Amino acid sequence: MSSFDRNTPYFSRILERVRLNAPLAAIQVPSGAGQGKLLNERKQLTAASVPQAAEKSPPFREEFVNPGSTKQTFHLSLSCERTIVYHPGDCVAILPVNPREDVEAACHLLRMKDPLIKSFLQKKANLQKPHPALIRKVFGENHQNAAEFIKSSTPLDLIQICQTPISSEEIPSLFLPLLPRYYSIASSQQMFPNEIHLLVALVQYHHEGKERKGIASRFLCEDAIVGETEIPLYIQHTHNFLLPDPDASIIMIGSGTGLAPFRAFMQERLLTRAKGRNWLFLGERNRKTDFYYKDFWEDLQAKHFLRLSLAFSRDYAEKVYVQHRMYEERSELWSWIEGGAYFYVCGDAHRMAKDVEQTLHHIAMSEGRLSEENAHHFIKNMRALKCYRTDVY
Ligand SMILES: Cc1cc2nc3c(=O)[nH]c(=O)nc-3n(C[C@H](O)[C@H](O)[C@H](O)COP(=O)(O)OP(=O)(O)OC[C@H]3O[C@@H](n4cnc5c(N)ncnc54)[C@H](O)[C@@H]3O)c2cc1C
Ligand SMILES: NC(=O)c1ccc[n+]([C@@H]2O[C@H](COP(=O)([O-])OP(=O)(O)OC[C@H]3O[C@@H](n4cnc5c(N)ncnc54)[C@H](OP(=O)(O)O)[C@@H]3O)[C@@H](O)[C@H]2O)c1
Repeated sequence: MSSFDRNTPYFSRILERVRLNAPLAAIQVPSGAGQGKLLNERKQLTAASVPQAAEKSPPFREEFVNPGSTKQTFHLSLSCERTIVYHPGDCVAILPVNPREDVEAACHLLRMKDPLIKSFLQKKANLQKPHPALIRKVFGENHQNAAEFIKSSTPLDLIQICQTPISSEEIPSLFLPLLPRYYSIASSQQMFPNEIHLLVALVQYHHEGKERKGIASRFLCEDAIVGETEIPLYIQHTHNFLLPDPDASIIMIGSGTGLAPFRAFMQERLLTRAKGRNWLFLGERNRKTDFYYKDFWEDLQAKHFLRLSLAFSRDYAEKVYVQHRMYEERSELWSWIEGGAYFYVCGDAHRMAKDVEQTLHHIAMSEGRLSEENAHHFIKNMRALKCYRTDVY
């Protein structure tokens, strides 16, 4: 177990940040695993795909912008220089830093210049959602009338209208804590001993006419300077989302950033020459712009190390999701499951994971000829036996 935790985080730096709307270059099968040679992914990427970006000082993400993409997703490589240990399936917990303009606005509104307060507002305070104590401070105990306003307000909005002075002593108790954000590790430490790779979607949306961005994803994808900014983090080890015995077959269902841990799985299986079969159902928006790590997957497929089923939801008139591909391949999928394959699901918890389970339920009924109730018990059993493993969020 890593000794790094929330109170004593490890400080990392971003080594590389690439906006992923064009395929990242291939990692070929390392010689130790049988075929080909492991290439340095970073060198290959910068040399082959974007030669002009390699010489530029960071950040150089603009070089990768493809206006066709409907979202912004980044491949990040973080330094892992000390004794940090991680395994496929683990997550990294990032302790984000609030955007500079929000911190400055808060210091200004609070009329605080104390560096300790500034540091608190930067690293410890949630500047998105108001603490009940701040709500009480602004509106008193009867704040029901202001419920609608409070719902759409940030702590800074409330401080702005606060009639009573706020002292430096009470500041820590007026803010909710800024919590860590988890990201699935997209690399195997056996393949990249000094790096932690992440696949991060930049959260951005409009709220009350204003553009908003997610705190941690903005920190990682935009604000942190490559090679400079310290990123506090610790490893969140998994107890559930582990690779099975190397001889066991695995079925991986990954949609969006849920693809990340499966890259780590496949790197690890390559290096350990695992004999078990591998099948990935990959779900994304558009093949042209969002097929992350395309060359890696296609290389593995060409070498018969991976079976690949693709679902690009926005390439067709009708939505095509991972569960539709599962159903199309139900006969083969069922034979893998009957043969003892482990079933992994990673990505969106609210819609995708539920629909995938529902589809597996249908497949158990149609292919396994199970009654509805028995299909339900079958899946329940798969979970109990840890053959059905999820990492959904
Ligand atoms: C186990 C686990 C693994 C994960 N792995 C990954 C991963 O590999 N890659 C990855 O990118 N993410 C991953 N996540 C998600 C990640 O932890 C963060 O939740 C995500 O990056 C958002 O964090 P943020 O700080 O950028 O956004 P926040 O500042 O936390 O903002 C997100 C909040 O913004 C609000 N919001 C978002 N969209 C809208 C909207 N359209 N309208 C109104 N409000 C909205 C919601 O309140 C939402 O909760 C994982 C999560 C878990 C739990
Ligand atoms: N990753 C997540 O689990 C998650 C969850 C909630 C919100 N978000 C936010 O969405 C943005 C991008 O995230 P992302 O890149 O991870 O994923 P994403 O782009 O939101 O979704 C990935 C793929 O899943 C598809 N999908 C939608 N509903 C589905 C369903 N019921 N079953 C199966 N597949 C389904 C999407 O299709 P369509 O979009 O074309 O329908 C898309 O092709 C980020 O801002 C993120 O915060 C992500």
